[in-house]
Amino acid sequence: MTRPDVALHDQVAAACLLMRDADHVVVLTGAGISAESGVPTFRGADGLWKTYRAEDLATPEAFAHDPRLVWEWYGWRRTLVAACVPNAAHRAIASAARERPGFRVVTQNVDGLHAQASGAGGPRPLELHGSLVRTRCTRCEQRWDDRQPVDATSMATLPRCAACGGLARPDVVWFGEALDPDVLDEATRLASAADVCLVVGTSAVVYPAAGLANVTRHAGGRVIEVNIAETPLTGAATIAIRGTAVDMIPRLLPASPETATEVHG
Ligand code: OAD
Repeated sequence: MTRPDVALHDQVAAACLLMRDADHVVVLTGAGISAESGVPTFRGADGLWKTYRAEDLATPEAFAHDPRLVWEWYGWRRTLVAACVPNAAHRAIASAARERPGFRVVTQNVDGLHAQASGAGGPRPLELHGSLVRTRCTRCEQRWDDRQPVDATSMATLPRCAACGGLARPDVVWFGEALDPDVLDEATRLASAADVCLVVGTSAVVYPAAGLANVTRHAGGRVIEVNIAETPLTGAATIAIRGTAVDMIPRLLPASPETATEVHG
């Protein structure tokens, strides 16, 4: 019988080779990649959707019914995320994206940690579900970066648009809303051109994001999954690695010798 740690070692080695030899890589991430930075996931044992009802907080109807309550929840999450920093998995992905021209990041996360890890250099990660640190006017649709703590004590204190005075909302995609078509088109294009789609820390149940790995597969590319648990994608993955993002991603994306010299030398 194969010892589990030997099997894991072989899977990691095989995944490293696929990653090394791929000209085009798309990394698709979900809440699990930020779990070790302290950001709660949605569907795990302590997941947000175990404590809160998405219908009350993350739908256009919820915002129309009680904008103050919705802002209170997003304000709490914004403050929580402001205290978190990118972890070794975000950093390894950001380095690879800086160093390799065909390497792109597509995330379902709204925590901004991929962008924070990238800094000013490299291509920006595609944020399929928007961002907690961006706000959008419900009247004129203007968007702006917004890291301010939210005062949701009353309607009068909620964020407003500086241009037209309209009520602002978090610039995230809610249940029942369509993704930005330009962002989704770009993500689909990257997935179909990818030699490898590396899927990290997502339960792979929310579409269209969950379908991107199959776009790669159907176009002839490989899928590598890194997750602490099995998902609906596991059976279709070329390699499914059981482990945490922080443990596994730096092994799959080791720093290049030049970068290692720069950092340590
Ligand atoms: P979920 O909470 O559904 O899934 C998190 C996944 O991460 C699970 O499969 C866990 O097993 C895995 N996981 C947890 N900790 C991990 C770790 N340290 N390393 C690796 N994997 C780990 O989060 P998402 O799949 O991102 O949408 O959820 C998708 C969407 O559903 C979110 O973007 C959000 C949510 O409702 C919107 O808000 C529109």
